[in-house]
Amino acid sequence: MKIIWAAAAAPGLAFRHAPVVSWTRITTRIPPGSPLHSTAAVESAEAAVPSSAAPLSSPKRADFSGFDYGAHWYPVIWARDLRPNEPTRVTLFDVDYVVARTTAGTAGEEDEAFYALVDECPHKKVALSEGRVTKGGDFQCSYHGWSFDGSTGRCVEIPQTLIAKQGRAGAESYDKPQQSGGGRRRREDATSVAVTVVQGMVWLQPNYTPIEALAAAANGTLSGPPTIPEIDEEGYKTTVAIRDFPIAGQAGKGFDLYVSDGVENKPALDEEWPSSGWKATNSVPAVEKLIAYNSNFRLGGVKKKKDSKKKTDGPTKMATTIFHAPSVISMGRRDNATAPAAFVSGFWVSPTGVGRSRFMASATVKSPISVPRWATHMNLNNFLDQDTYLLVGQNRATLKREAEGYLANDASDATNPVRKSTYVYRSPSEKLPTRLGQFFDATLSRSPNRREGVLAWHRRNTEGGKLIGPGPSRREILDRHEQHTKICPDSSDLVERCDRVMKRSRLAAVALVLARLLLGGGAGGVAEEAGGPLAKGIIQWTVGLAADAARRSVLRPGPFVAILAAAAALYRGSSLIKREFHFKTDEGRHRHDVKAISDMWADL
Ligand code: FES
Repeated sequence: MKIIWAAAAAPGLAFRHAPVVSWTRITTRIPPGSPLHSTAAVESAEAAVPSSAAPLSSPKRADFSGFDYGAHWYPVIWARDLRPNEPTRVTLFDVDYVVARTTAGTAGEEDEAFYALVDECPHKKVALSEGRVTKGGDFQCSYHGWSFDGSTGRCVEIPQTLIAKQGRAGAESYDKPQQSGGGRRRREDATSVAVTVVQGMVWLQPNYTPIEALAAAANGTLSGPPTIPEIDEEGYKTTVAIRDFPIAGQAGKGFDLYVSDGVENKPALDEEWPSSGWKATNSVPAVEKLIAYNSNFRLGGVKKKKDSKKKTDGPTKMATTIFHAPSVISMGRRDNATAPAAFVSGFWVSPTGVGRSRFMASATVKSPISVPRWATHMNLNNFLDQDTYLLVGQNRATLKREAEGYLANDASDATNPVRKSTYVYRSPSEKLPTRLGQFFDATLSRSPNRREGVLAWHRRNTEGGKLIGPGPSRREILDRHEQHTKICPDSSDLVERCDRVMKRSRLAAVALVLARLLLGGGAGGVAEEAGGPLAKGIIQWTVGLAADAARRSVLRPGPFVAILAAAAALYRGSSLIKREFHFKTDEGRHRHDVKAISDMWADL
C-alpha cells in the first residue's frame, strides 16, 4: 500500500503562500513597543526558560527516561492552509489554540506574521477562534470585543472601558506596573504560545511564550523542528496534504501505517540523540516491487507477475526510513543512507489528543513539473482509507490496554507493562516498529494530559472490562469531508468549482431540451415572418431571429446530441471528482479492495 502512494504522489506543487524560512523566525511581526524588542526582556526570559529544554542523554540504547514531550515543537497546520487574517483553531494534547497568519500593517505576504494563543478568552472563556483578526492584526473575541496582541497575548482593548476611547496608548496606561522581562501577565491577558514556520508548516511550542522561545533559541536550550533536507533543495517540488484522524492520538501508533510493511531482512538501526531529541534511521536494500518479491522470490514463483518494464540496472538503492521523535518520519530511496533521494515522503503526526491525531504529509520529488495539489489529495485519501478503518480497531485495543496499565499501577509509575505486551512482533522487518513501540511505551504516559485522557476514554468506551459496541461506523471513520476537505482550501475550492460546473451543465441541458420541445429542430420559422406587420414588434422579431438561429445550429440533431453529451460528461466528471472529497470507501468498495489481497499476500 505504501508503494501505491509513493508512485502516484510523485509530482509535486511548490508552496504557494508559505516561503521556507529559518525556524528562528519565531514571530515575524513584532509591534513597536512590544517587550519582544527588549534585550533585557530576552535576557530575563533566558533565566526563566523551562527546565524541560535539557537535551536527552545519549547512551547507546536509550531507555528514553530523559525524553521530554515538553521540549519539542509540534506541527499543527500547513501555513498555506491558513487563510490570511482568519483565526483558526488547532489542537495539541487535548488543548485548543487559535492560530492566525496576519498581514495587517505589512507590505504583503513577505511580511506576514504567524501568531498563536490558547483558544480561550480570559473574560468569559469563549473560544477566540470564533472571533476575528482586526485591521491592526490583533485577535478580537466575538462575544464582547476584547482584543489581544498576538505576539504577547496582552489585552489591548476592552470596548466597555475607557480604553476604547484611548486606543492602544490607553491600554498601556491602563496597565499595572510592569515587572522586568517584558511585563507580567495580567488576568485580562490571553496566553501566547511560541510559533514558527519551518518548511511550509506552522509549529507550536506550547511550553514557551514567544519571548521565552527567542531566549531559549539564543542560549541554545531550544532546538528548531527537525527538517527533511530535500524539501529545501533546488530543483525539487513539494506537494503537501493534511487529514484529521480518529486514531493514533499522542503521536502514537499511527506510524505503524508507514513502517510495518516490508520484507524480511535484518536491517541495521542507527540511533542518534541530537539536541532536538531521538532519531532512528533504518536503511535496507530496496525491493522494487513488494508484490513481485512476495510471489516470485519468497514463494518460489507460486504466482508469477508480469515483468516490470522498469529497468532495474544499477546499484540497489537503500530504502531509508528516518524517525525523528516524537512526530516526524521520512522515507526515500537513496544511494546510501545519507545521500539525497529523488523522491521523499514526509509524514508528521500532530498529537491532537487521546484517540485522535492530525496527519500531515509531503511528497517531494526532483522534477520541474508541478501538478495540482487536489489531484494528489484524491490519491492520498484513497490510500489512507484502506488502513484507517483497521487502525481504529487497533487504536481501541491499545487504548484499552494502556488504561488497564494505568489502573494497575501507581500514578507515579512512568512505565506501563500492560501496554508493552499489546503487540506481537515476529518479523525482522519490524525492527524499526519494534523500537518505535519501545519509545512510545516508555514515554507516552509522560506526554501532556495523557494519563487522565486515556482513563476518561476508558470510562466512556468500556463496561465490565470489555469494549462497548462495535465502535464508530465506517462512515464516521472515513468521513473525508470532515477530516480533510473542510481544512484544505485547495480541495474545498475544487469542490465548490465542481458544484458550479454541475449546476451549470444541468441548467444548460434543461434549457436545450426545453428549447427543442418548444421550437422544434427544423430550420426556418419565425424569422421568415419577420418582415410581416410592424405590430409584431421589434422584440418579437429579435426573438424570432434568435430562435431561428438556434434551430439552424444547436437544435439540429447532431449539435443537439453533442451538446447534451458534453453537458452530461461535465456533470458526471464533476460529480466523480466531488465524490473523492466525501465519504467514499463504503462496504462495496471494501469488498472490492479485499479481492485484491491475494495479489499482495499469496494463497498457500
Ligand atoms: S468572552 Fe471574550 S470578550 Fe467577553
